Amino acid sequence: MEINELIAQMTLREKIGQLLQVNASVLDERGGSVITGPYSEIELTEEEIFQVGSILNSNGAAEAARIQKNYLQKSRLKIPLLIMHDVIHGYRTIYPINLALAGSFDMSLIEECSAMAAKEAALNGIRVTFAPMLDVARDARWGRVMETCGEDTYLAEEIAKACVRGFQGDLGPARVAACFKHFAAYGAAESGKDYNTVDMSERTLREYYLPPYRAAVEAGAKAAMASFNVFDGVPMAANRKLLQGVLRDEWGFDGVIISDYAALWEEITHGFAENEEQAALASLSAGLDIEMVSTAYLANLENLVEQGKISEKVIDRAVARVLRLKQDLNLFDDPIGITDERAAKAICLCPEHRHLAKRAAIESAVLLKNEGVLPFDRAVKRVAVIGPFADTGEILGNWSCCGNTEEAVGVAEGIRNVLPHCEISIARGCRIDDERTDAKMLADAAAVAESADAVVLCLGEAAFDSGEGNSRQFLDLSSAQTELAEAVLSANPNTAVVLFTGRPLAIRRLHERAAAILNLWFPGTEGGNAAAELLFGYASPSGKLAMCFPYSAGQCPVYYNHYNTGRPRLEDDRRTAYTSSYIDGPNRPLYPFGYGLSYTKFLYEDLQLDRAKMKLNETLQLSVTVRNAGERDGTEIVQLYLCDRFGSTVRPVRELKGFQRVFLAAGEAVRVSFMIDAKTLAFYGADLQKKAEAGLFTAYVGGDSEATLSVDFELAES
Ligand code: NOJ
Repeated sequence: MEINELIAQMTLREKIGQLLQVNASVLDERGGSVITGPYSEIELTEEEIFQVGSILNSNGAAEAARIQKNYLQKSRLKIPLLIMHDVIHGYRTIYPINLALAGSFDMSLIEECSAMAAKEAALNGIRVTFAPMLDVARDARWGRVMETCGEDTYLAEEIAKACVRGFQGDLGPARVAACFKHFAAYGAAESGKDYNTVDMSERTLREYYLPPYRAAVEAGAKAAMASFNVFDGVPMAANRKLLQGVLRDEWGFDGVIISDYAALWEEITHGFAENEEQAALASLSAGLDIEMVSTAYLANLENLVEQGKISEKVIDRAVARVLRLKQDLNLFDDPIGITDERAAKAICLCPEHRHLAKRAAIESAVLLKNEGVLPFDRAVKRVAVIGPFADTGEILGNWSCCGNTEEAVGVAEGIRNVLPHCEISIARGCRIDDERTDAKMLADAAAVAESADAVVLCLGEAAFDSGEGNSRQFLDLSSAQTELAEAVLSANPNTAVVLFTGRPLAIRRLHERAAAILNLWFPGTEGGNAAAELLFGYASPSGKLAMCFPYSAGQCPVYYNHYNTGRPRLEDDRRTAYTSSYIDGPNRPLYPFGYGLSYTKFLYEDLQLDRAKMKLNETLQLSVTVRNAGERDGTEIVQLYLCDRFGSTVRPVRELKGFQRVFLAAGEAVRVSFMIDAKTLAFYGADLQKKAEAGLFTAYVGGDSEATLSVDFELAES
């Protein structure tokens, strides 16, 4: 298919149609089903409907195939539809939320999970996923942190590449195109409030927020989504400086750029465009190809061309990008592809996929505290599973696509699976969102706890309290759950708390009170099986936090790679006047980035450099011995952080520059090495050019971002 020849045959209306995306229901109404909800407000003529270029939110293989076939019969030029969907952490088999999975630091696992999601989605007719989400997030109040890779730029860059590889592969039939999002810096919403203003220096943008998106571009992602926020006063859907200037001109991205949901209409609400016509003109001129759901392009582009305000050539370029994506997905030759209801049913939730989801949930879990409680003895006779998450499948987390909570394994069921002969008692104690406890429910829970040999106390925030539009001012557990925890922990000290959450919570009281806390985040379909294997020592926790847990909401945004100040507080637990600190709490978060315990103890010894001074064109090797000094096998995530001590602009106190997952049998030791070169040391200095500056550096190696084992080296001028 020659794209330019096809464009030459298209009318202007047909071209504009390619730049519109509507909800699947708009098309399927003609095919049989009924439009409900806000989409029915979009009034399109029959002719316009069969010119639409893409749809979102189709519902399974049968519907996708029906829509495509019906569309192709009616469309004049037989240009197939593109079907897009939010496949965020699984399609039907749901793996842990992205923030959790990031903490596995396991790039091949992340790639495998993305490939699994792609396969299930492709069988169901999806050709593009609105993922990966690559917004660096430092504020736990923001509900969308659950979709992110966490607070660190380098980790997010690595994950961006793994996800693009997994989703797209070689774009074979069982893959989907990746539409990374939300470009740009959506995660820096002021005060953690969703959709809020983003305003930052160009240095911060380039140094911390842009690199993950760029990694996705370099990995070959086919599409990008512009974010809802304003950046430097301009809504991103119309931000020419970033869309055309950075994404297209600087990075050479020639894939499709799509708006977020109705974002062109929001340009008016932002106070940027006076009307739809201005919004359409601004967005198309900024390099944005597809308008999602709203109809500013459809209603105005023809007029804008007639008035000479926009050249048809600009429209042609946008259309060419859309058609090229369809071509890359082989839609012209095979519009239905592998879409197949029966095959989809056989693959979704198949044992292999469930197994991968379980492995992902195990690797993503973070042991936050453990004072001799875990793992529980497998010989226990009576286990109590208590709390609002004790026996529920509501553990998939938000954005769980076609995941079904009834198909998810809850904690009690998981324990039953690993300990079939054990007596298991369940008490909810309270409901997830209860503000007050019910005296009877509380008393029952305490009684159940008291009579058990081991207690699993399942607490957390509701799955839909994180995700889009779900920002929070308070990050504590509900008061009912706090009361429940007190009652259960008093009744039986052999209790482990299992936490379910879409964001870091402020749980310092729980930390003080409980002897063991295992954070499962939202673990997905196999969450309960993963929990049981971890709690009873069939698996050992190895996940680390991709985002720190704040001491209190008042610390947010809090992140490990901050700058120093001229007056740092050196001893964080002692109040010192006139230092950069709070009078009523510490600077340190409750649990730092990179933190997570295991059932064994890892020691770091003998940190060595192969040279103390390196030149710009040289590499330096750093190596350390990691020893499993405990009695159980385990996996450690060895982390390398660097601090550039002085620069033309100030540098963070430390930054993650490398990590390795190492499995060590009890008593085993291994030498782990990292290579450092000028690229590792480069940053955006005073001239905003990315390069390494000569001077002194400190390297820290250890199991979290507070690692103290360190060594200095120097980068020489030449
Ligand atoms: C709005 C969200 O911001 C975005 O992440 C998502 O992909 C679209 N809606 C489509 O559902």
